[in-house]
Amino acid sequence: MRLMIVGADGQLGTDLAEQFQKKSHVIPLTFLDGDIVNLDVVHSLFQEHRPNVVINTAAFHHVPKCEEDPVRAFEVNALGARNLALTAQATGAKLVHISTDYVFDGKKQTAYTEKDLPHPLNVYANTKLAGEYFVSAICDRHIIVRVSGIYGKTRCIGKGSNFINTMLQLYRDGKPIRVVTDEILTPTSTTEISRQLNVMMDHDCQGLFHVTCEGACSWHEFAQAIFDILKYPVKVQPAKVADFPPAVKRPHYSVLENSRLKAAGINIIAEWKTALNHFLTTTEVDSL
Ligand SMILES: NC(=O)c1ccc[n+]([C@@H]2O[C@H](COP(=O)([O-])OP(=O)(O)OC[C@H]3O[C@@H](n4cnc5c(N)ncnc54)[C@H](OP(=O)(O)O)[C@@H]3O)[C@@H](O)[C@H]2O)c1
Repeated sequence: MRLMIVGADGQLGTDLAEQFQKKSHVIPLTFLDGDIVNLDVVHSLFQEHRPNVVINTAAFHHVPKCEEDPVRAFEVNALGARNLALTAQATGAKLVHISTDYVFDGKKQTAYTEKDLPHPLNVYANTKLAGEYFVSAICDRHIIVRVSGIYGKTRCIGKGSNFINTMLQLYRDGKPIRVVTDEILTPTSTTEISRQLNVMMDHDCQGLFHVTCEGACSWHEFAQAIFDILKYPVKVQPAKVADFPPAVKRPHYSVLENSRLKAAGINIIAEWKTALNHFLTTTEVDSL
């Protein structure tokens, strides 16, 4: 397999490159190799590297900045995905496109399956959904992978940090830590996503898949679990979303059910706290 990873120096891309190195010829591309918004650049990248599989992790996903610059958000998240889909279709390559739990509005209050109708609330989410539609409409051989609340050993480039980095920084700065109890998600490690994608490639999966850790928690529970696992003496203070009026509308519930993975009998992803425990006990915490 000649596997081209777009965004290979990012939070998820780094782990994907590591995971697939064992059995594929990995072509790790960063923004410096080319901007996917430019179709000619994408053509040249395919011509030069001749991938038969492409994983697209690239995104403009700083949610407030997407509101300020909706044109760039659409360019990267929708047209970038379209350019990869057009070129993958023309060359017969398979396109694996990473998307988000934010395509939902959170009103359902039970885990969303792949059959649930999206209703994105903000610019970021709308442009990511447009990216999904371009990929599924253009590229016959595709997988769309919706992930949620991701963390890994590489910092999220687009946001500057992930939630674990932020919590540890507050602790190191000796600041009080208050976190919301009324926003529910599934924290998901990039290692778990990479392991799961490896299995999905082996099974030649096609179409839309939810790929998150099992279970769900509030951001407050997530924060407390981080400190408990590390045995740091921190009692995270509970807060409500209303205490931090958000500048941008976000879903307050974005738990995904890996229904299609389960139906296919290939859901190997860990429960969120097990994955978090593994991550924090096998990673150099000072580097986070
Ligand atoms: N972080 C989360 O909690 C979360 C939740 C749900 C879904 N997701 C999705 O998961 C995916 C991966 O997220 P991540 O946290 O790994 O992101 P990340 O760390 O910000 O990495 C994204 C990578 O894409 C590159 N990139 C951005 N725009 C590009 C462009 N126009 N052309 C080529 N490369 C470009 C970035 O390079 P530069 O930085 O150099 O531009 C970076 O290497 C994204 O699709 C995101 O929407 C993330």
